[in-house]
Amino acid sequence: MRVIETIPELRALSDSERSAGARVALIPTMGALHRGHLSLLEEGRKRADRVWVSIFVNPTQFEDAADLSDYPRTLEADLACCRAAGVDAVFAPDASEMYAPSTQTWVEVTELAKPLCGSSRPGHFRGVATIVAKLLLTARPHVAVFGEKDYQQLAIIRRMVRDLGLDVEIAGGAIVREPDGLALSSRNRQLHPEARREATALVRALNAAQAALAAGERDTQRLVALAGAEIRKAPLARIDYVDLRDPDSLEPIGERLEAAGLLALAVFMRPPAGAEGQEVRLIDNRLLQP
Ligand code: PAF
Repeated sequence: MRVIETIPELRALSDSERSAGARVALIPTMGALHRGHLSLLEEGRKRADRVWVSIFVNPTQFEDAADLSDYPRTLEADLACCRAAGVDAVFAPDASEMYAPSTQTWVEVTELAKPLCGSSRPGHFRGVATIVAKLLLTARPHVAVFGEKDYQQLAIIRRMVRDLGLDVEIAGGAIVREPDGLALSSRNRQLHPEARREATALVRALNAAQAALAAGERDTQRLVALAGAEIRKAPLARIDYVDLRDPDSLEPIGERLEAAGLLALAVFMRPPAGAEGQEVRLIDNRLLQP
């Protein structure tokens, strides 16, 4: 497995794989790899001859300096994980490799980035779109795979690729869950054990709304309220948002759910009173199909 740290090296590898006729899949990550990422690697393997992973904790998508410094960094374990998974190359650059000093150029997807995580994390999706554009333009993969847990991110990246006319296919990988239903996330390892137990509130909220829908409930406010009530049962949880949106435009849905809707959640899980640790923000989502 090749480990590459510079843009010129990555470009050279891309040139040689392309001229050899190999199809390349890129899985962009911020490291702290888990089974969710492994499923994206498998998805990449199905779609290409070479699987490349990028590992870069992108500073411009963190609106909070403490969140950036607390983000788990486990490069050696990540490289071992990639080697074991048969990854062909890992791109693990420094921040100075990806951002020129006082950079002035950004990629911004406007409307799709406004609601949900965009409204609670201002500037986050500008950072995501910019780094993903740079990675795609440097690595020039044939396909890039992103997790569906970050539904809004995936929608924004698809739109960016379409709007900029980038020559790459964007694929989504299904959410992978723990046996108790918690969606896998690099942030789960930051949870206090008690908050970890209560974090199943997110999947229970999705399940509750889905069960109500199956029982005939179509009122969007009631579906959202049901999901919210499930989260409020967890004393360590604080809701950032619970929202039901059009899955394509991410616009609000009218009073009744007549076609598919995206139920999206963001919840802060705090450690119990007096315990060490920080609040951790988790997200999850489900497509509700009437
Ligand atoms: O989903 C992530 O891990 C990141 O947002 C991404 C897509 C690698 C961009 O930094």
